[in-house]
This record gives sequence, structure tokens and C-alpha cells, in this order.
Amino acid sequence: MADGLNVGCKPREELHKLVTALRARLQLDLELNRAIPASYLKKGEGVKKVCLPERGQNRTEPAVGPGQSLPDVRATLGDCQRCPLCKTRTNLVFGEGNIQAGVVFVGEAPGADEDMQGRPFVGKAGQLLTRIIVAMGLQRQDVYICNILKCRPPGNRNPKPEEIAACEPFLIRQLQAIGPKVICALGTFAAHALLKTDVPISLLRGRFHSYQGIPLMPTYHPAYLLRNPGAKKQVWEDVQQVMKAL
Ligand code: URA
Repeated sequence: MADGLNVGCKPREELHKLVTALRARLQLDLELNRAIPASYLKKGEGVKKVCLPERGQNRTEPAVGPGQSLPDVRATLGDCQRCPLCKTRTNLVFGEGNIQAGVVFVGEAPGADEDMQGRPFVGKAGQLLTRIIVAMGLQRQDVYICNILKCRPPGNRNPKPEEIAACEPFLIRQLQAIGPKVICALGTFAAHALLKTDVPISLLRGRFHSYQGIPLMPTYHPAYLLRNPGAKKQVWEDVQQVMKAL
């Protein structure tokens, strides 16, 4: 499903996904003026630093390095045209909240309300997320909220692997910029994309996993809770663990 590299895929599809993911990753590395990782190079080639012109020297993207700030990541994303979702979106939804948040909530993708307002989790599911955050003793402005995809999939369909591959590098940079103590992945797509697994959310939730050394708690998506209120108890157990870790 959300995992772009399913073993059961046909070889052509698999190759297409790999190339899309690799192209997005290399593109971002170039944009962020990062060294090309040694693993991308042929043996003996050595690590070369890719240098783009500095700010004001004819460059179209802002000059940002490995420790880029959230505004730098936003500036690099720009008026993103990296995948076809740009054609159907009203607003790109980057994310919002405390740039030094202890906890980052990562959802799936903007819905209709978020697409209209350019803000994450502002519809019915978002209102429930806000109530969960308040129940944790926090305010929305204390935490950071973002999504795997920055643009709404038409009709709220599931994100496609190639859309996740194109957008994910920006989420990675957001998480690096914030450096939270804990990440809370909301729902299947967020958990699968961040943990690179296909294990059902029902089995992932309830315990911490590691995302780049940061404790990550997968839990049910608030939209799922709206349809299955009985699962609120489990989400409450999950966020209590997040509170303890904070
Ligand atoms: N669902 C999500 O996953 N993200 C939003 O921003 C809104 C609804």
C-alpha cells in the first residue's frame, strides 16, 4: 500500500518507483547543496561536493546547507510542481506549529478543508486531533503538525507511492529542522512511509519505534476515530506514552 517498494510488484513498476524515488532524493540533495552520498558513487570515485551558486549568484533556489531551517525547507519547496498533485491543489499545505516542538504529528495528506485553507488538520478530523492535543495538556501551537503529502489527492484518494516518494524528502528535512523528542504518526500511510514497513497499523501502534533515532509512536488516524469511536481508548493509551516520553 503506502510502501513504495513492495516485493510483490512487477519488475517494471518496481524499477519505475525506484527511479522516481531516487530522482526526487537526488534533486533535493542538489537543491539543498548537499554532498552526494558516497553510496551513490562508483567505487573509487570519492565524495564530491555539489556546489550550486550562492544566494544572489544567479540561483533560483535559496542557499541552504545540511542544517537548514524550516523556512529554508519551505522556500526550497516553493510553488512545488514535482508531482501531478500540483495541478489539482488549491493550496500547498506545508505544516504549522512550534518550530521547536517536542512532538511532531504526521498525518497522511490534506483534505478538502486543508486544501482550501493551506493549513493542516483543520477539518473534522483536525478538530478531533486538536481535542487530543488539548487532552494531552498541550495547545496546537505547542506542537508541530504536518503530513506525508503537502498537496491534496483529488477526492481524498489514497496517496500514490510516487507522490510519497516526491514529497517525502521535504518531510525528512522538516523533521531534521525541528528535531523533536517524539514523533506521532497518524494512521497507516504516515506510519508506513516513515517506518518503511507494510505491517498493519493495528500491530504497529501501542509501542515506540525508531525513526532516525527519534522515538516514533504510530496510532490511529483521527479520521478513523470519527468512523470508529471505540478506538479512541487505544489512541488515548498511545498518546499517554507520548506524554511520558516528553
Ligand atoms: N487528514 C490528514 O491526514 N491530514 C490533514 O491535514 C487533514 C486530514
